[in-house]
Amino acid sequence: MSNSGEAELLHTFKGIPFTTRSSPELLKSLDTFDAREDDVLLVSYPKSGTHWLAGVITKLYNTQITITSPIEFGDISQLEELNKLSSKRIIPTHLDYNMLPPNFKSKKCKMIYISRNPKDTAVSMFHYYRDNPNLPTVDTWPAFFDLFLKGNVVCGSWFDHFLSWEEHEDEKNILFLFYEDMKKDLPKVVKEISLFLNLNVSDNDIQDICKKSSFSEMKNDTEKENSDPNHTVCALTSNRRLIFRKGAVGDWKNYFTPKQNIRFQEIFNEKMKLSKM
Ligand code: A3P
Repeated sequence: MSNSGEAELLHTFKGIPFTTRSSPELLKSLDTFDAREDDVLLVSYPKSGTHWLAGVITKLYNTQITITSPIEFGDISQLEELNKLSSKRIIPTHLDYNMLPPNFKSKKCKMIYISRNPKDTAVSMFHYYRDNPNLPTVDTWPAFFDLFLKGNVVCGSWFDHFLSWEEHEDEKNILFLFYEDMKKDLPKVVKEISLFLNLNVSDNDIQDICKKSSFSEMKNDTEKENSDPNHTVCALTSNRRLIFRKGAVGDWKNYFTPKQNIRFQEIFNEKMKLSKM
């Protein structure tokens, strides 16, 4: 990181780096947060396609829902705001499973976890670090690559995050999705989401939702302010314009050197040896 003063942009809670946009008081209070049985959680490690998934989900409902601010965002008053909402809540979060308010688990709320190839996630996060004033500056890709592999980035280690959720993959109230599957066959994934959420959506509507959720449509909507540019489902910024960068699979190949790729693969194999992925 280029500037030691910038380290103040992050603080650590239970061993995980958060930005100062998540106050320690709020993080401490999460344990007592009151979930509702019909809450839906939208869970991800940053840069995994959270906004894409949120865009799809908003279009799936024809009843009133609110995509709230991320549960770990803001100060303690934010939790009161969430409590006051009368409509059904879709709640985004980057929390790992162990930090999730226990009430969501005991009430068996539906949770959708979206994951992405960690190499592409790392590249996307590198750009986010560069563009997002809420995150410390990184000067170079190799410097960021090291931070990412060590888990010294906001929200901690990708591996720990993924594994904490993967352990619960078989629970009926948790749906696991992959960014790459959405890129390959979006209608299939949208159908899967609608079944999981018990929503009756016609094939025509699914086609329409997919069209409106393409990268170019979503980027245009944000640029033309057809969707609120000051609202994100990411606790790390409210600026929607920082989200839609490239939207591609395999961009990592433009950044990883062969040596970095070998190092990443070795760490991946070691950390993920008990994973089904
Ligand atoms: P890139 O930086 O690789 O472009 P998140 O929403 O979790 O912050 O993830 C952001 C990433 O998802 C960005 O990746 C962004 O471009 C990509 N993304 C957002 N909307 C998308 C869409 N409709 N289709 C494909 N990728 C999308």
